[in-house]
Amino acid sequence: MTSDVPYFTNSEHGYVPAKLAQRNSSAGQPLRLLRFVVNHVIPDTVKFIVQLVPLIVGGLIGLVLPAKRKSVHGQTALVTGGANGLGRALCLRLAREGCHVAVVDIDMAGAQQTAADVRKLGVKAEAFLADIANFEAVERLRLDVETKLGPVDVLVNNAGLLAVLSLTEGKPTDVERIINVNLLSHFWTIRAFMPGMITRNRGHIVGIASIAAYFPVGRFIPYTVTKYAVRALMESLNGELHMDGLQNAVQTTCVYPALIATRQQFVDMLDKLNFLKRFYVFTPEQVAEQIVQGVLVNKREVFVPNILALFCKQFECLPASLRHLLLSCTIRTFIEGMKERQRGYILGVSSILGFLAVPRVVSYVATKFAVRGMMQALQHELAIDGFGETIVATTLYPTFIASRKELMDLLNDLSLDEKLTVLTPEAVADEAIEGMLRGYPNVYVAPFFIRLSLYLISFLPHSMSKLLIETVMGKMPSLMERSQKIC
Ligand SMILES: NC(=O)c1ccc[n+]([C@@H]2O[C@H](COP(=O)([O-])OP(=O)(O)OC[C@H]3O[C@@H](n4cnc5c(N)ncnc54)[C@H](O)[C@@H]3O)[C@@H](O)[C@H]2O)c1
Repeated sequence: MTSDVPYFTNSEHGYVPAKLAQRNSSAGQPLRLLRFVVNHVIPDTVKFIVQLVPLIVGGLIGLVLPAKRKSVHGQTALVTGGANGLGRALCLRLAREGCHVAVVDIDMAGAQQTAADVRKLGVKAEAFLADIANFEAVERLRLDVETKLGPVDVLVNNAGLLAVLSLTEGKPTDVERIINVNLLSHFWTIRAFMPGMITRNRGHIVGIASIAAYFPVGRFIPYTVTKYAVRALMESLNGELHMDGLQNAVQTTCVYPALIATRQQFVDMLDKLNFLKRFYVFTPEQVAEQIVQGVLVNKREVFVPNILALFCKQFECLPASLRHLLLSCTIRTFIEGMKERQRGYILGVSSILGFLAVPRVVSYVATKFAVRGMMQALQHELAIDGFGETIVATTLYPTFIASRKELMDLLNDLSLDEKLTVLTPEAVADEAIEGMLRGYPNVYVAPFFIRLSLYLISFLPHSMSKLLIETVMGKMPSLMERSQKIC
């Protein structure tokens, strides 16, 4: 059964602005603060500390005992983009673990070759021609794979376009294609294959992102945007599976590889940029090995090389100027860009959910992470083109804004309106314009304690930050649960 999505559109009742009358007066502030502390801060802190104990014990045990490896022998894996590059290496590596493999690609000759090589390893394999950017094609693919190989237990969303294209370059359809292949395809395959995994209580979803999801550099903006969004999608999906008690049924792994020597044109471009002399480039087989090892121990994140896991999160906490400096010192060579001098301001609206991959709003979170990635890559591109001082790109990260009434009603229903500090549109606009005119790269319109929590969350281990978010936000009901409540 599917429920209608309550889109925040004007269609039914027109636009109904939210009212925040009692919040606008400063009278009664200390009393409200006291009520907030007694009703929310103290109970949430106690709940957090109580639930933290088993996490710490589990973490300490994990430090001593090696992670338990699972077996995927006899299971069916589907790899998108399996004809070439990393996808092909993954098909062969999964086959060595005893997986039957569905090789999916738009390059049928390559897919057939991979399938033939996989069969030589003693497992079943079939090639499937499908454009995974198209939802109907993915639905047909599911039926086809299930008929020929049975239900899919391991879904590897690997296909991606390695597009060296900036925001104003190429045709609008090029940008659409990159977003469709690199991002929307993940939505379509997960939609098609995850329900079966949940029913059978067995499944693993792997999303191939890129190190670009942590280091947003200029010249690859649409690519970077999709990789930020894949990161958010996988994080948010993982949180949702936990929230629904399905964490043992369906596992997720998001992969952040550095450079891989896959197609020749890509390696030639790296060579032209002098990257080959300065960066280690992995073989697809090396990366596939690390990914499959990670999948077998149910790792939520796999960084290739592993050491990047240490730097990525800390890098994000640095001030924007320091991040640009570090990126510029590391990358050094650049593809030619626009030369004319320009002047102006660009304001991109992300959200506090561009940092927090909370469950139940997977698609929204993905878009807001994507906006964050886009604005950070744009800031870097402007800096390398010498426009850092003349064109200001500011990203706005507000908490909830009391814009339309439906949103306020929803927050009220979820008992989140008091906890999350809902702001008036005017207050947010004031801070945004002020920050933009001052040339700030980021404007966080959120109370100090929320900003501090965001900072802390980026340093905490995943299980603890997840517990912190769950304690504050509570268990969000699904769309179906919400509509049943309304009925
Ligand atoms: N090569 C790198 O340095 C590198 C680094 C980090 C992350 N990645 C990521 O790894 C993944 C694989 O990259 P790669 O270097 O092996 O790429 P590749 O270009 O070598 O291979 C991609 C494969 O996907 C297929 N494909 C493209 N569009 C498709 C579609 N719509 N439907 C089905 N198949 C489609 C292609 O035909 C090709 O076989 C991508 O998601 C990429 O973003 C690559």
